[in-house]
Amino acid sequence: MNALPRAQGPYDGDIYTRIIQSLRDQGYCVVSDFLPTDLIQSLFIDIKKLDNSHFKTAAIGRHDNVLVNRFVRGDRICWVDEDNTSVKSYLDWIESLRLRINRELYLGLFDFECMYAHYPEGAFYKKHYDAFQGESNRKLSVILYLNPAWQHHDGGELVVYDKHDNIIEKVTPTFGKMVIFLSEEFPHEVLATHRSRYSLTGWFRINNTSGITLDPPA
Ligand code: OGA
Ligand code: MN
Repeated sequence: MNALPRAQGPYDGDIYTRIIQSLRDQGYCVVSDFLPTDLIQSLFIDIKKLDNSHFKTAAIGRHDNVLVNRFVRGDRICWVDEDNTSVKSYLDWIESLRLRINRELYLGLFDFECMYAHYPEGAFYKKHYDAFQGESNRKLSVILYLNPAWQHHDGGELVVYDKHDNIIEKVTPTFGKMVIFLSEEFPHEVLATHRSRYSLTGWFRINNTSGITLDPPA
């Protein structure tokens, strides 16, 4: 009898286990083999097709204090088109991850929002949290990097800190790498990039409407 083919697609085996274990043990994880390469490739083609006019300068602050400050962040962002085929497929994978995480970690993740981000040469994003305890419904940050042939001297690393400001991980934004972390637990920053740096950045949210106002704007 022939061996069964290895499962394909969103219900594929143990990568989910690895992600969940590392979220459970350390609150974050870095993986490069979650998504199929052709999907990463098509997301990359997609983001490259968007011209500058699709991107807007990202803002900082919350509530009534939203402002653009180039000394804090210089990335430009574009909310994804959920009717786009590759985005749809990405969201299917994300949904499969959401279900597994909820089943095993009881995080109560409810939905997901995501955007393309472009850091032009020289751009950075100073140390920040993606969510403040009790003030946001962003629970888990998910970043997918879309930068073929990224070199060490290209800079643009994501630096992840613990709550005492010790560096715990420096992540090179290489093609297809994904970083997932608890949004309220890890201060992080993007070091100045020396070439155009692309990513697809998103947040799983919990459905907590009581006392929640606006998320930090992207
Ligand atoms: C963000 C962010 C990190 C990265 O968009 O909030 O921190 O590596 N991005 O792009
Ligand atoms: Mn962030």
